[in-house]
Parts: sequence; C-alpha cells; structure tokens
Amino acid sequence: MKMEVASLVLRSPLIVASGVLGSSGSLIKNVSENPSVGAVVTKTVTYKPRNGYENPTVVDLGYGFLNAMGLPNPGYLDYKVELASIKRDLEVPLIVSIGPSNGEEAGKMVEALNSVADGFEVNVSCPHAKNLGLEVGSDVQTVRKIVKAVRESTGKPVLVKISPNVTDFVDVARSAVDAGADAITAINTVRGMAIDVNAMKPVLSNLYGGLSGKAIHPVAVRIVYELYEKLEVPIVGCGGVYDWKDAVELMLAGATAVQIGSAIAYRKMSLNVFNEIEKGIIEYLTTKGFSSIRELVGLAHNS
Ligand code: FUM
Repeated sequence: MKMEVASLVLRSPLIVASGVLGSSGSLIKNVSENPSVGAVVTKTVTYKPRNGYENPTVVDLGYGFLNAMGLPNPGYLDYKVELASIKRDLEVPLIVSIGPSNGEEAGKMVEALNSVADGFEVNVSCPHAKNLGLEVGSDVQTVRKIVKAVRESTGKPVLVKISPNVTDFVDVARSAVDAGADAITAINTVRGMAIDVNAMKPVLSNLYGGLSGKAIHPVAVRIVYELYEKLEVPIVGCGGVYDWKDAVELMLAGATAVQIGSAIAYRKMSLNVFNEIEKGIIEYLTTKGFSSIRELVGLAHNS
C-alpha cells in the first residue's frame, strides 16, 4: 500500500482531507497513530485569524454535507505554534493547508510554516469566502502568482486544491503546475444551497455553502479522469470516498492517493473508515492479482 506523492512517502494512499479535524494539534496527533492513515492535511489556515460564520454552518443532507464554516482558524502565526507542539510526535507526513488571498500572503505563510510542514496544500477553491479560495482560484493569473510565491518559499511538496465550480479547471490546474505545483488535489466542495421549507429561508447562515460527500463522488471521478489525461503531475483524488470501491474508482481514474473527509463526519468522527477502506483495497488487489497499489493508477484509461 506504500505510495509516493511528489517526494512525500506515504505508508498508505489514504489521506485525511482538510477541514475535518479543525485546528487542533492533539486531534492530528491521534489520527496519525492510525496505521491506515498515510498523511494528514490540516484545516486551512489564513493570513489573519478568522472567527468563521455564525451557526448553522453545517447541514447533513443524507447524501452529503453542505457546509459554510467560513474558514475559522487562529491565523498562521498561532497555528504554527499549535503544529510545532505536536510535529515531532507525528507518525505520518503533515500537509499544511493554506488559504492565501495573494502571492505576498502565500509567501509569508509558507516561510513561517516551513519548519512544521512536510508539504503544503494551497486552497484556491473554498466556494464561499470573500477574497479567498475560489474568489482567487477562479483566475488563472492569480493562481499562478500564488503558487509561484509558494514555490519560491519552500522546497517541500506543493499540492494545489482545485474547485469543481469552474469550467476551466484544467486551465487552473495547468497554471498551478506551470508555476511549480508538484501535485493537484481534486476536488473541493460543490457550491450549493439548502432551504428550510418550514422556516422558508436558507438553512446556512451564509446562505450557500459547499456540498461534500457521496453526492459529489461522480463529479470528483470525472475531474480526476480529465486531469489525468491533461497533466503530468500526480493527482490526489478527493470527493465522497465512503468505502474501498470509491477509493479504487478514483485511483483507476488517475488518482495517486485519495483524501477522505466527509466519511469521517458521517461515521461520527470514527477513523475505522480508514482501516475498512485499506482492508477492502488489499482484498481487491489480491483478487485481481495486483502486487502493488501503484498498478491501479489510471488503469481505466486503457479501456
Ligand atoms: O468553510 C470552510 O471552512 C470551508 C473551507 C473549504 O471548503 O475549503
């Protein structure tokens, strides 16, 4: 099950997605002790501290979650202190998710966080934050500037998490790679809205949010499949991975590794989902006669 993403060596291709663990160092440490977890991506940290939006910020729709947390985080300087307190005890690579507004912020954040990160994931895809995420990530020139600043500030692997909410996602991913990204994470949430029919008003305080979970899995598979045909860098698949078949599907589409987020919340924050998915993949590899998980990557393109 060993896999490499850029120069990150993962004991398993199953990665904890950004957002599910909040900003707590102790949670990250606990998660890293699960032998089926290959790496952890932190909650996205921004240049300035953010309180996030008022409640309600998350709604369980049954087929997925709609969330607009508002990127709550203590800001990169305080978060660095939190991560520094646990970094030495981690058993897996720590990928720090950053959400910059521009290249200058990106460079400063990465320089400061370099000592606590094994790699970075640049969030240019949160679908509902002013001057952040998708607002900067839908413009290829801005993405290029941000990723260039990140690249110039670190020698560590740089992943860029892209949005399914733009039609030119291949151009966005291509501009990130041209500017020095080592890998692309696909996808962040799909912008959506829920309305309470009794109250007759939007459920989320922010009115709209990002849909994750089961419902977006086919969207993720399609985007990973397209990116695999167009890019030469590894793709990390993310979107509605609830069981081993979902993970294998993304790998057959072209993902080198797979992130799991909503399934953890769906399972009431139990990490058993990682153990079950890993077991399922190993059984699948054995049944199909593969000797390594690497053999799966992109196989659906041969048909
Ligand atoms: O609201 C949030 O914190 C979500 C972040 C994201 O979708 O990247």
